[in-house]
Amino acid sequence: MEPVLVTVQLKKHFGPIKAVNGLDLAVQKGAVYGILGPNGSGKTTTLGMLLGIVHPSGGDYSWFGNGQKDENRKRVGALLEQPNFYPYLSGEQNLKVVARIKGVNPSEIDTVLAQVNLLESKKRQARTYSLGMRQRLALASALLGNPDVLVLDEPTNGLDPQGIAEVRDFIRQQSAQGRTIILASHILDEVEKVCSHVSVIKKGNLLAQGTVNDLLKGEDQVEIGAKDINALSNALEGYPGIRRLEKTNDLIVLHVNEAFDTAALNKFFSDKQIHLSHLVGRKKRLEEQFLELTAE
Ligand SMILES: Nc1ncnc2c1ncn2[C@@H]1O[C@H](COP(=O)(O)OP(=O)(O)OP(=O)(O)O)[C@@H](O)[C@H]1O
Ligand SMILES: [Mg+2]
Repeated sequence: MEPVLVTVQLKKHFGPIKAVNGLDLAVQKGAVYGILGPNGSGKTTTLGMLLGIVHPSGGDYSWFGNGQKDENRKRVGALLEQPNFYPYLSGEQNLKVVARIKGVNPSEIDTVLAQVNLLESKKRQARTYSLGMRQRLALASALLGNPDVLVLDEPTNGLDPQGIAEVRDFIRQQSAQGRTIILASHILDEVEKVCSHVSVIKKGNLLAQGTVNDLLKGEDQVEIGAKDINALSNALEGYPGIRRLEKTNDLIVLHVNEAFDTAALNKFFSDKQIHLSHLVGRKKRLEEQFLELTAE
């Protein structure tokens, strides 16, 4: 697999504040890579360093296996904060300004406007755009120069459900076209819906990194109960697919792999003449897992 971005012990300290405290990230080509963490966990600071806007206090990063050279920046389109456009210029004219700065052929402007569904509104002054349209104009601006990677910081912040859906569709389309996406978000649901990979960070530290399937979806729970709880837990010794077992007063909660076969478990007990009074499987709520990951 081809790495698009690698960071090694990347750090940013603001005086006593360890905003980013030694991050090791690896983003493969074609991934939709989510950096997930609560407010203040260091997401924007991290992206700032990767884009050459914030100077790291320590550690290293490399784009495209080519270090930190300026030429890499041309291959990375970014949406970092609420973008400032010239309100009295049209969407199209604003992109002409950006194209000039980036050294991009203005013939690309219509192409990127079409990709964000703004072609029909391109002659309107940007000040008449809705928040969602402004966000799409910003995405169009990030697309100018046809970058290999899009870096997006909280791209759905402040948008209504329709605007959120549009941006998420946009990300999926861009990914389908082969672009690598790096997305910072504090919204678990968003990462779960659009990302293939995720790193979970808190207070500048990496808590976990992997595929969304492994990290956020990989666990189910099965509750079992019987007259004799201890007989149950003894019988389960060595049973495959159980990651962790939790006893409450009258129940056992099994944390199991996603492929866990509840019916087979039931048969296993009845073969042993143990009769379950309770058997409930449930999908672990993502929120729960996220909170568990980011708990003190
Ligand atoms: N220029 C700065 N000077 C001092 N502290 C800063 C500066 N920039 C960020 N910080 C601090 O670094 C920490 C990480 O901030 P950052 O903006 O990277 O977090 P974030 O994960 O993007 O948060 P949010 O979800 O709110 O956008 C915070 O404690 C923040 O107050
Ligand atoms: Mg931020």
